[in-house]
Amino acid sequence: METAKLTWKEKTIDLQIEEGVMGEKGIDISTLRKSTGMITMDPGFVNTGACKSAITYLNGEEGILLYRGIPIEQIAENSTFLETSYLLIYGKLPNQKEFDEFEDNIYHHTMIHESAKAFYDGFPTNAHPMAVCSAVVGAMATFYPDSLDVRNERHVEISIHRLIAKLPTIAAYSYKKSIGQPFIYPCNTLDYCNNFLHMMFSVPCEQYPVSPVISKALDVLLILHADHEQNCSTSTVRLVGSSMCNLFASVSAGIYALWGPLHGGANQQVIEMLRTIYDGGGDLQKYIDKAKDKNDPFRLMGFGHRVYKNFDPRSRIIKKVCDDVLNKLGIHEPLLEIALKLEEVALKDEYFLEKKLYPNVDFYSGIIYKAMNIPINMFPVLFAIGRMPGWIAQWKELQEDKGFKIGRPRQIYVGPPKTDYTPMEERK
Ligand code: CMC
Repeated sequence: METAKLTWKEKTIDLQIEEGVMGEKGIDISTLRKSTGMITMDPGFVNTGACKSAITYLNGEEGILLYRGIPIEQIAENSTFLETSYLLIYGKLPNQKEFDEFEDNIYHHTMIHESAKAFYDGFPTNAHPMAVCSAVVGAMATFYPDSLDVRNERHVEISIHRLIAKLPTIAAYSYKKSIGQPFIYPCNTLDYCNNFLHMMFSVPCEQYPVSPVISKALDVLLILHADHEQNCSTSTVRLVGSSMCNLFASVSAGIYALWGPLHGGANQQVIEMLRTIYDGGGDLQKYIDKAKDKNDPFRLMGFGHRVYKNFDPRSRIIKKVCDDVLNKLGIHEPLLEIALKLEEVALKDEYFLEKKLYPNVDFYSGIIYKAMNIPINMFPVLFAIGRMPGWIAQWKELQEDKGFKIGRPRQIYVGPPKTDYTPMEERK
């Protein structure tokens, strides 16, 4: 077994090296504090592995992404979102019988509890749908006390079906509420994406004819977002789940983590940025310069990634889907032109090249959502619908881990040293 040596003062300790199947290596420091009294410092967990996982492999240097070993390009080309969900959660592609059963379970859990609809009346009409979705998903724990035992396989199973099935309904209701239209019940004879689009855009007096081009593109987008190993929201789901907290609560926390502009909220920010550039006359260089200026907090949204230091393979696929959708629907989208030019300028700029900042998954996805008439504040919600199987798979893997431990990082304290309490009259 390969080891690394750590020497500190006169003491040397051996630390075991763990190796993954694709050759990546990690120094196991789990004995460090016991043997030296010290901890490691790694803000943002840039170098810290928190688990061993068999779900997703990504190689940021070479731009590789595999779900359960299968390249994302092949999955996007051949699979469907529900099949991909099965693959991520259960570790293998389903045979026909397994898939039919899974699909049937998802299609028969799409309605939300009638009482849950009352929540929507309590939210302001301009509530951000990510806040609504997280709240309603968290509240599912109140409606399904029959499935909260994290060590009971059947409880976990039914929670999985409920979450994948109901999130599109919860999401579409948040949109309907914001525009003052009645909720449209799910239709279980429609497939997953058609059903979501039906709940978003049908009205009681008129059925929305879902375009196959749009529902296929949405399915591919959901596949591309389905998992991305230990990102911020997934780590959140794992951390919450590590207290043996139920799946609804853990995923609800994950939705909040995803909302931030540095994570899943970036797709909304990209469109807002492209719109600002377009409205301001298309001065791309001004925004490139702002992004490079250390004194300006502006960042080129949809660019850069913690792990990818090469093209994000998802963004290549999304760019193709984007071209295809706009061509087939005959849409001329000026924001796409701005995006293409921005990418061209940025990728010739020394700053972006040197820092290895490439377009990420969020750069083109918003343009497709816009072509589907999805409102901008719903973009991160679509990311959440896509990421659901990944969160579930990672949560399940954690619960099944023999070395299961509650997540509890350490810190280096930098506050005041031990100080006596000062009575009010003696305080300055
Ligand atoms: N525009 C301008 N400069 C950037 C950008 C950007 N989009 N991203 C990173 N940098 C610079 C950053 O200022 C830093 O420069 P320096 O070394 O001189 O201080 C350097 O590149 C490294 O950046 P970092 O913030 O230390 O890198 P990180 O790994 O902590 O952050 C990131 C990754 C995705 C948060 C960041 O690239 C970013 O803020 N991008 C814009 C937001 C975005 O598109 N987010 C979606 C991420 S992909 C989908 C998802 O997983 O949610």
